[in-house]
Amino acid sequence: MRALAIVFFVLSFFAQNISGQSNTIDKRVDSLLRLMTLEEKVGQLHQITSDFAATGPITRDGEKQDRVRKGMVGSYLNVTGAARTRSLQEIAMQSRLKIPLLFAQDVIHGFRTIFPLPLAEAASWDMDAIERSARIAAKEAAASGIHWTFAPMVDISRDPRWGRVMEGAGEDTYLGSQIARARVKGFQGKSIGDTDALLACAKHFAAYGAAEGGRDYNTTDMSWRRLYEVYLPPFQAAREAGVASFMNSFNDINGIPATGHTYLQRKLLKGDWNFKGIVVSDWGSVGEMVNHGYAADLADAAKKAILAGCDMDMESRAYSAHLAALVKKKEVDIKLLDDAVRRILRKKFELGLFKDPYRFSNEAREQSIWNEKTHLNAARDIAKKSIVLLKNEAIGTEKNTLLPMRGIKNKKIALLGPLVKAIDDNNGFWSYSWPDDSVRVVSLWKGMMNKFGADNSLLYSKGCNITGNDTSGFAAARQVALQSDLIIISVGESANMSGEAKSRSSIHLPGVQEQLVQEMTALGKPVIVLISAGRPLIFNWIADNVPAIVYTWWLGTEAGNAIADVLSGDYNPSAKLPMTFPRSEGQIPIYYNYFSTGRPFKQDNDNNYVTAYKDLQNSPRYPFGYGLSYSRFEYGRVKLSADTISQTQQLSANIQVSNTGSYVGEEVVQLYIQDVTASLVRPVRELKAFQKIKLAPGESREVTFVITKKELSFYLEDLRFIAEPGQFNVFIGGSSLAAEKASFYLR
Ligand code: BGC
Repeated sequence: MRALAIVFFVLSFFAQNISGQSNTIDKRVDSLLRLMTLEEKVGQLHQITSDFAATGPITRDGEKQDRVRKGMVGSYLNVTGAARTRSLQEIAMQSRLKIPLLFAQDVIHGFRTIFPLPLAEAASWDMDAIERSARIAAKEAAASGIHWTFAPMVDISRDPRWGRVMEGAGEDTYLGSQIARARVKGFQGKSIGDTDALLACAKHFAAYGAAEGGRDYNTTDMSWRRLYEVYLPPFQAAREAGVASFMNSFNDINGIPATGHTYLQRKLLKGDWNFKGIVVSDWGSVGEMVNHGYAADLADAAKKAILAGCDMDMESRAYSAHLAALVKKKEVDIKLLDDAVRRILRKKFELGLFKDPYRFSNEAREQSIWNEKTHLNAARDIAKKSIVLLKNEAIGTEKNTLLPMRGIKNKKIALLGPLVKAIDDNNGFWSYSWPDDSVRVVSLWKGMMNKFGADNSLLYSKGCNITGNDTSGFAAARQVALQSDLIIISVGESANMSGEAKSRSSIHLPGVQEQLVQEMTALGKPVIVLISAGRPLIFNWIADNVPAIVYTWWLGTEAGNAIADVLSGDYNPSAKLPMTFPRSEGQIPIYYNYFSTGRPFKQDNDNNYVTAYKDLQNSPRYPFGYGLSYSRFEYGRVKLSADTISQTQQLSANIQVSNTGSYVGEEVVQLYIQDVTASLVRPVRELKAFQKIKLAPGESREVTFVITKKELSFYLEDLRFIAEPGQFNVFIGGSSLAAEKASFYLR
């Protein structure tokens, strides 16, 4: 009887048109679930990785193949390519119930076409461009058989020592929430199940970015208020945007590992937020609860994780080894297991895999997308929008700035530094290398040759390495510099100095690079410094002494072209920092929206019995939201539509912004709010809105923001989200230092 039922089931799911409107996915999931053995159910919760080093078909691994054939694996990660995913799916199709595999990958900032690091993209404050970048990544990855990306990472972080800041949107909750939404929309496209879309994954739930000391995988300990106010909103935004999955995290929060956190996963996410998708563990994080001292052994870890609401076990093999026994011993209710399996099966149905398990593994589509020119154009577009102009000071008697290098001709330009000819570094951490990277990835050298090579002569010398104290290359660099009219020095981190497990106690520019800049600057020629990194770095001498500084992060496949676009003025830089840049590691954690203290400093050098360091000025090196343009933007007065509003009314805040420079330019107009007096201490100001506008020289525009109760609310100790009556200040400007201010009252 059972065998007959299976035959019917299999036939019905592979027939294209039997479904009918009333046959909802939930019903199909339920009827499939009824046919599954306990072991097959556990199999769906088991995610394993391919063998990274494998060069042939990934299905070589006999033990894993066998598990797939027995229906004991629900998902694979790190299997790439239409052919490989197809061959593995073929094995899954030999299983009793022919439940297809889900193929997952970390498609973080591009797949075939590499886009800027997520942190760099965040600097663009351009939600359309960010969405487009994720859209293209999804198209390319989906054509290679991938169904599911472990992105976006929406962890807020206020600590640039943490190597993973490169993967997020920086320090701010509001900006981070907008970006979370844009990325989810980009990855998931119009609809899950389209063959150009991926399931997205909001990670790492939660507070992974608050690791103590910025040390990866470390403890987080914070008030619930702070968790709700600062760290959770980007996850909530991803949820609202329909994200298909969440990943929990390695850290513990106030003593409970996130992977075993019942309140976060069951009560908040699946309960209050009504999340119906998959919760996957981080790599091995179920098993790591033993190391945390929170689970006695792997069986206990499996039990704690499933009870807490973690549906899928990535690579701990805790569920596959112990869940069935736990259910048999009645230590885990089968209903919990069924709920987890349902969530996974539902996504497989939504993806259309029961109709055609190979629909994403399409070699023809993979081939045709491989060299899609429009993807490169989009990568160049967002790369130039991600570049931050930190300094562009007038020099010489004519008081000209070095940038832009507009119309420069018949000059000798020295390109110095360890990163000028770098190729792979441009792709940054969490990216894929392809065999043709050496011709496809545009190095700084190549980009500069493309732009300036025909009319000028470009010279090169490496000068030094990124790390180490070898200065023997300085002499050759000096020779090149001496022959040149202009010196451009490219310094920074290497790509693998930021990323997972890449926390650093020193975030100063590594090695002798700053010394190289000092020696070249001493020659008295004009110097421009370009800094590439996956985090805010510290480079105080350069900041004080070099007239032109451009922060280029890691920009992906089109890096060199994008940098040349900005240097030449073909693109007028518009990016703004998504993280505060400190002057010293001693200032970390550093962020603009700190709480008001009882002893605030009044001036930058004020350190006498105020909240300050004795040995450091108070300001950061560069504030959050800061970034220059070749244009100048002037702000008028903030005008509010009312002096007082009620809880149900809204207020509009207007400001006139004028481009008083001589270039067409874009400005990110930022609105910050301060709750002046409240029943709990509030931040000095918080970003609540922004608009990116484009103005021609001489053009002015009235920018209007609407403020509602939501922008004025905060979490009380009991986690009620309310707006308290009283005075509020509104600041509008081009960075978190925005000076134009007005006040109003909430009744
Ligand atoms: C990372 C995750 C990632 C996973 C799979 C883990 O080490 O923390 O962000 O998605 O590996 O590669």
